Amino acid sequence: MTATTSDATTRRDFLYVATGAMGAVGAAAAAWPFIDQMNPSTAALALGTTEIDLAAIQPGQQVIYTWRGQPLFVRRRTPAEIASAKAVDVSTLPDPLARNANLPDNTPATDADRATKPEWLIVKGVCTHLGCTPTVSTPTAPEGEYGGWLCHCHGSAYDTAGRIRKGPAPENLAVPPYTFLSDTRVKVG
Ligand code: FES
Repeated sequence: MTATTSDATTRRDFLYVATGAMGAVGAAAAAWPFIDQMNPSTAALALGTTEIDLAAIQPGQQVIYTWRGQPLFVRRRTPAEIASAKAVDVSTLPDPLARNANLPDNTPATDADRATKPEWLIVKGVCTHLGCTPTVSTPTAPEGEYGGWLCHCHGSAYDTAGRIRKGPAPENLAVPPYTFLSDTRVKVG
């Protein structure tokens, strides 16, 4: 785990972690012990679910998993990122809906309805324009104007709740179905 945080000031605060059956996402060799720890059971894969150990993810860090063949962003938000997301007037958003598979379709895109536990934002890493993988924004490597992600394909910018704020993407990043099994463990799918 040392390699996941020690270089935080010199490189981006994210890791790629493969957890799905199709997990071909690249990962630095130093991250493999972390990956082994997080690999789901065969039974979980069969059900299209994965359990993620959150304990090793640091505030301000994003880890990218694969889930059902697609990137899955798990971001441990800082208090400032949470506050920024909560301060947004939902009526001003391009997409005012939460897009949260855990909630009814007409749920508004408040921060509370995007992240069940404020510290943890879990979204599919798939831009809702044409499906590119957006790049995370960090204090040391800002991307876009809203502190969340920037999709370099056509310039869609997302905020710290994964909501589209600018650019051609029509919808917020999708929140997958998930259940917290404990404070440090979540099942996705
Ligand atoms: S695919 Fe993301 S902006 Fe076009």
